[in-house]
Amino acid sequence: MDTTATPLDRQNPIATLPPSFRWGVATSAYQIEGAIDEDGRTRSIWDTFCEVPDAIAKGDTGEVACDHYHRMPQDVALIRELGVDLYRFSVAWPRVQPHGRGPVNPAGLAFYDRLTDELLANGIEPWVTLYHWDLPQELEDAGGWPNRDTAYRFADYSMFVFDALQDRVKTWTTLNEPWCSAMLGYAYGAHAPGRRDFAASMRAVHHLLLGHGLATQRMRAASDGRHEFGITLNMGVATPETDSAADRDAARRSDALGTRIYLDPLVHGRYPADLVEDLAAQHITLPVEDGDLEVISTPIDVLGVNYYFSETVSGVDEDGNATDATGLPVSRPIPTGRPITAMGWEIVPEGFTQLLTRLHNDYGLPMVVTENGSAFDDEPDETGFVDDQDRIAYFDSHIGAVALARQQGADIRGYFAWSLMDNFEWAYGYDKRFGIVRVDYDTQERTPKASAHWYRDTIKALRAS
Ligand code: NOJ
Repeated sequence: MDTTATPLDRQNPIATLPPSFRWGVATSAYQIEGAIDEDGRTRSIWDTFCEVPDAIAKGDTGEVACDHYHRMPQDVALIRELGVDLYRFSVAWPRVQPHGRGPVNPAGLAFYDRLTDELLANGIEPWVTLYHWDLPQELEDAGGWPNRDTAYRFADYSMFVFDALQDRVKTWTTLNEPWCSAMLGYAYGAHAPGRRDFAASMRAVHHLLLGHGLATQRMRAASDGRHEFGITLNMGVATPETDSAADRDAARRSDALGTRIYLDPLVHGRYPADLVEDLAAQHITLPVEDGDLEVISTPIDVLGVNYYFSETVSGVDEDGNATDATGLPVSRPIPTGRPITAMGWEIVPEGFTQLLTRLHNDYGLPMVVTENGSAFDDEPDETGFVDDQDRIAYFDSHIGAVALARQQGADIRGYFAWSLMDNFEWAYGYDKRFGIVRVDYDTQERTPKASAHWYRDTIKALRAS
């Protein structure tokens, strides 16, 4: 990459971000590591799910992925080239504690030890996510997240990792996007373990939050005070299509199940009353035991926000019915005609500003954007270079949206681009590319895209300003 930074246009809201604002790139273990059978790693729910016919586009799997497990030092060198402050990666539970309970696997843990050292040697601060969806299969066989015991197992596993890396890692995220684990995994069947049971997904929510609280309490108790703890949630804004009662109720329910079900217990120590009422109407009760909400509301230092899109929702189906065939209220995303990414997600940067200011007003936590980015149908030239102006425009408008939210008072301290490189996009396989670095999966060659140059230049220009 060349070394001349493009000066930032003074009119661009990004130019208001202070030099202290922190920049990073993010990945997760199953999406990049490969090496699924090495050094004592056991199967995770994603290895199993990838074997289910038609579960993953084109039958792709995480078996090799970006082969990061074997190419880690070169990948760290790539991150260094970007000039970022931070790298957010996740630890694979089935590498570290292969049976989900019982002894630690030193060979598995050693990988993250080496990665941490390599990052620090290159002047990059590590940011650890403890759970990015790869539950050991043995724990799923015992009931998975709908089973209360999984929360305690997660806290034990977290302590193994914390003990090993706490001398070098300052920031710890317990869970990444528990909405995806609970809803996509246990209600919609779109993610591992592929179950379709809404009541089970609600039990999963509570046990994920409990696991977060237990792990946070134990890590905090073992910390000398130098560490920061938090959780990462994926959120957007749901706007009612019209002012009708049905559409407004659809937006309310979407907010309850997407945002407040997590943040109300985390910050206020209670589940939202309207959600509890909606669930009761479906004969579902959250499995809350005495003391759980105190554990879940253990104070955190930073809220990780992952933002990709916002939605306009309708509370009636195409025929105008407000309930579906099973009697449940309708909630339907309505295309507004805005441009979309390759995921089919509408590009709504103003929704990001709205979300961040709302989170600030309702919950008042310091925030870091732990993921934001976009997939587009990249077209490499003969050298493998991708001139991804669409992705640059997405970053530009969304980082600008963060800057505007800061101007409106939201306490946002940093931003991670998703993702460092193209990787295994879960049920979409390798076809959806979110990387700022292109990966050629035939050769494993990495080529920074135009967006990688843009990101590096933008960070550099802000530091110089
Ligand atoms: C959020 C998830 O954390 C990440 O794993 C995924 O690749 C991105 N969204 C894009 O869908």
